[in-house]
Amino acid sequence: MANRETDEVSGVETTGHEWDGIRELDNPLPRWWLYTFWAGIAVAAVYWVLMPAWPGINSYTRGVLGQSDRADVAVALKDLQTVRGAQAAKLKTATLQQIETDPELQAYAQAVGQSVFGDNCATCHGAGGVGAKGYANLRDDVWLWGGSLDEIHRTIEVGIRSDHPQTRMSQMPAFGRDQMLTPAQVSDLTEYVVALSGRQANVAAVRRAAPIYQQQCVACHGPTGTGDKAQGAPNLTDQEWLYGSSRADIQGQIWNGRGGVMPSWKARFDPETIKALAVYIHSNAGGQ
Ligand code: HEC
Ligand code: HEC
Repeated sequence: MANRETDEVSGVETTGHEWDGIRELDNPLPRWWLYTFWAGIAVAAVYWVLMPAWPGINSYTRGVLGQSDRADVAVALKDLQTVRGAQAAKLKTATLQQIETDPELQAYAQAVGQSVFGDNCATCHGAGGVGAKGYANLRDDVWLWGGSLDEIHRTIEVGIRSDHPQTRMSQMPAFGRDQMLTPAQVSDLTEYVVALSGRQANVAAVRRAAPIYQQQCVACHGPTGTGDKAQGAPNLTDQEWLYGSSRADIQGQIWNGRGGVMPSWKARFDPETIKALAVYIHSNAGGQ
């Protein structure tokens, strides 16, 4: 050790290391530090014996206590399965109506439905199913195709204007775009629909539109505008709108005759999951 010397102030020998004029005294380590150090090594040695510790090529030292997180998870999963298994088995065989009359099974179905809904349906129907323009609100008691458990179940299975052979299907004509009616007639009909929903409308326009409505619209929306669930034709007399309540929104629909598309889920989910979805939606909405 080249530069060892004795410090003048403390009288302690230095280590010979120097940084920017600062020299290190060669004091012994504090006792408490040393003891902790040795104790740490001792604990580690005991730990290696008791617990899984050292990696090998194909495996690892397992430790004499046999501790394994993997095994713990397996046990926890098995416990969960026994708890759930009974409900899952019931869900397979129960009818929709039976599910809703068995509170425990209903709660289970709702939990399954909620999680599947969040992953697959919320992209279009919004979180919790509150809907958006063009995407049906599933939380209210207004239904295009019917709000009974069976109707909801059917809609989820076959979809709406989907590629399923039995899909729910209907198409409102594009009265304006396809020149079935003149722009003036479409404006008059817009006033007519505004009047149907109980709002102030141009009386002369409504009078002019009445015979056109009777000719062109009753087949789907009904003589008084209350709609037809068999054809997914909305009720025009309520305050709930699929495409918006303003005159521009209404006129746009009469002009373009949009038809929303909802995929069929029959091929994507097993029957239990579709039942769970139907129960989830039915019990969260103003069910019918
Ligand atoms: C790609 C978008 C999209 C996805 C994803 C989607 N839907 Fe829909 N859904 C729609 C549209 C659009 C409508 C309205 C169709 C119409 O205008 O008739 C609809 C309508 C419905 C209806 C009928 C509502 C009524 O008033 O009769 C139900 C029930 C429904 N969806 C459930 C679901 C469920 C459950 C899922 C998930 C498994 C789902 N939807 C996923 C777009 C979607
Ligand atoms: C062949 C059946 C059919 C005919 C005929 C029809 N509609 Fe429709 N209409 C529908 C359907 C189905 C929808 C819903 C479209 C959807 O779900 O995407 C709709 C939606 C609407 C809407 C939007 C409602 C909302 O909640 O946003 C208005 C407004 C409307 N129709 C007015 C009319 C008027 C006015 C006529 C006559 C000129 C007419 N419809 C004729 C089937 C029809």
